[in-house]
Amino acid sequence: MTGISQQPGDMRGAPGWDGSTDDPAVRADLAGRLHQAQGPDPGAPPAGPGEAVGLVIGTVPATPLQFSVGVAQGQYLQLDDVVVTSRELPGTARIQLAGVVTGIEAVQEGARFASDVFLVQQGALPAEVCEVAEVTVTRVEPEVYVPPLPGAPVARATGRQRETALYFDEMGSAKVPIGFGRDGQPVFVNFEFLDGTRGAHVSISGVSGIATKTSFATFLLHSITNCGVLAGEAHNTKALIFSVKGEDLLFLDYANSRLTDAARARYKDLDLPAQPFGNVRVFAPPRRGDPAGTPDVTARDRAVSPFYWTLAELCGQELLPFVFADAEDERAQYTMLIGQVAARLRRDGTAVGGDGAVKIGGVDPANDRIVRTFADLVDLLEAELGDDTLRGGWVGAAATGSVNAFLRRLRSAVRPLSAVIRGDLSHRGERSITTSRAQVTVIDLHNLPDRAQRFVVGVTLQGELARKERQGTARPLMFVMLDELNKYAPREGDSPIKQILLDVAERGRSLGVILIGAQQTASEVERRILANCSIRVAGRLDAAEAERPEYGYLPPAQRQRATLAKPGTMFVAQPDIPVPLAVDFPFPAWATRPSEKGVWSGHDPGPAAPADPFATIPGADADPPPF
Ligand SMILES: Nc1ncnc2c1ncn2[C@@H]1O[C@H](COP(=O)(O)OP(=O)(O)O)[C@@H](O)[C@H]1O
Ligand SMILES: [Mg+2]
Repeated sequence: MTGISQQPGDMRGAPGWDGSTDDPAVRADLAGRLHQAQGPDPGAPPAGPGEAVGLVIGTVPATPLQFSVGVAQGQYLQLDDVVVTSRELPGTARIQLAGVVTGIEAVQEGARFASDVFLVQQGALPAEVCEVAEVTVTRVEPEVYVPPLPGAPVARATGRQRETALYFDEMGSAKVPIGFGRDGQPVFVNFEFLDGTRGAHVSISGVSGIATKTSFATFLLHSITNCGVLAGEAHNTKALIFSVKGEDLLFLDYANSRLTDAARARYKDLDLPAQPFGNVRVFAPPRRGDPAGTPDVTARDRAVSPFYWTLAELCGQELLPFVFADAEDERAQYTMLIGQVAARLRRDGTAVGGDGAVKIGGVDPANDRIVRTFADLVDLLEAELGDDTLRGGWVGAAATGSVNAFLRRLRSAVRPLSAVIRGDLSHRGERSITTSRAQVTVIDLHNLPDRAQRFVVGVTLQGELARKERQGTARPLMFVMLDELNKYAPREGDSPIKQILLDVAERGRSLGVILIGAQQTASEVERRILANCSIRVAGRLDAAEAERPEYGYLPPAQRQRATLAKPGTMFVAQPDIPVPLAVDFPFPAWATRPSEKGVWSGHDPGPAAPADPFATIPGADADPPPF
């Protein structure tokens, strides 16, 4: 992996190392130089409080971007350690080269065969153990790209040197804490790569259940809203979270009863409150068979609203294409028909009453009735399109085969979509997803079938994008968290939702819509979306997945380590820093499952008041008074 392991012969054959390491004079010299590096001598690099740990070696070429360090006896370096060395040049200030340990290995020099280790042990063969660390340079200051010279002392970077090595000194007021490095010190991301200034969007990959993707995404949101980077906009910045799997995102405003004092202290060290989210509203689909449209959630009873779309909205806003958003629809011949039917529904659909039912104008008298459910609408379309004489009014001269395929696909949508497309509910409070009522809006999709989930994600994102576009300013920002990005924006094929996600990825930066996407496998996500993510994060990766080119941003040692990463360990790559940083983030301070539910710390302003108090009487509008 390191240069050394590829050239073991070079290493052993190198003059000055082979057999000479037990030379007391060399040892004394090394120790002396290390001492010098630690000492107060003004001429001894590197400057600062760092502790010298070794010397740049000469058996592997040192370059301005990478060098290797022989670790001094009694010292050690580990992966991710931040180190610094320097070089004196005539006529300029001393060059400081800082970097991160990206590989390390121990070899027995002088040993040629595996069995030599026993001879060395018995003292029958002279050999020395040498540890060599590979350092990837992160920063050269001032910017003169010269290699460090073999023999130059290397120290651990601490304090200001570490800040400089990792560019934290340049982040100014854009520092968002994301956890701790291996050295236990805070690690930051540059908010300018999140808020659209220089970049936007986050992609998080990793194995389900252990990679802690969802936890990291919510921790990032927590940090952004509490660390001060949003300044005066903190209260108006919104998050829209799609909860696709399970219930883990429904308790963001409940304290985590498993949070220990030690974990609490970790929040303090990052200058963040160890608190749950304070202002959360959950939207859930209506309960099946409940005419009042009560939201279908068992796990929480506070700050919950139902959501669904009325048939009038389906027609008026041309939402039909989102009914056809599956992979199965991509290559189908009926894409044109969807648009034609949607356009006619918009033109000829009129709302009836206040429950969202519709009547479609210009249809055959036999089919002319009030459409109250999605199934009614599909019945009507089947009757109209199934009749050769009526079909032309909808889809012109389309081929019968395509029409039949379209109708079959439409029919199969009835079951999954009936819960969220309605014209039969008298509920007059809130029934539309809105991000205006809370700072964090969670849309609970986990009880919905796949096809309905796609419909909801597509329609909601389209609406929010349009709203931000009308608003005309990127600020305050809106964060959109979406799990299973591979399902909504797969690499292959096309769909209306994928188009919208591409739109978010490509224009979100200027619109102020920031995507935080998570997926088990980045290799299955549309490339253009990944390419637009400035911050890339990997948790525990599957070994085969880690070999994919999508993780090329991880150096080989990190790729391999990602296959072992523990919950809470993430590798975070940001454009500013040439090496991804290994980060441990604190255990969530909010409940991530029902068993962790502690004290509720949200607030519930109650359901939105209906504009017309009489409107709550079921059927009031549909039944006009007889005068
Ligand atoms: N920082 C952490 N340290 C240790 N365990 C954690 C941490 N964050 C989350 N976990 C645990 O890992 C579990 C799974 O995390 P989750 O974020 O749901 O993973 P994923 O979204 O990748 O499936 C959580 O329920 C929690 O108990
Ligand atoms: Mg998850």
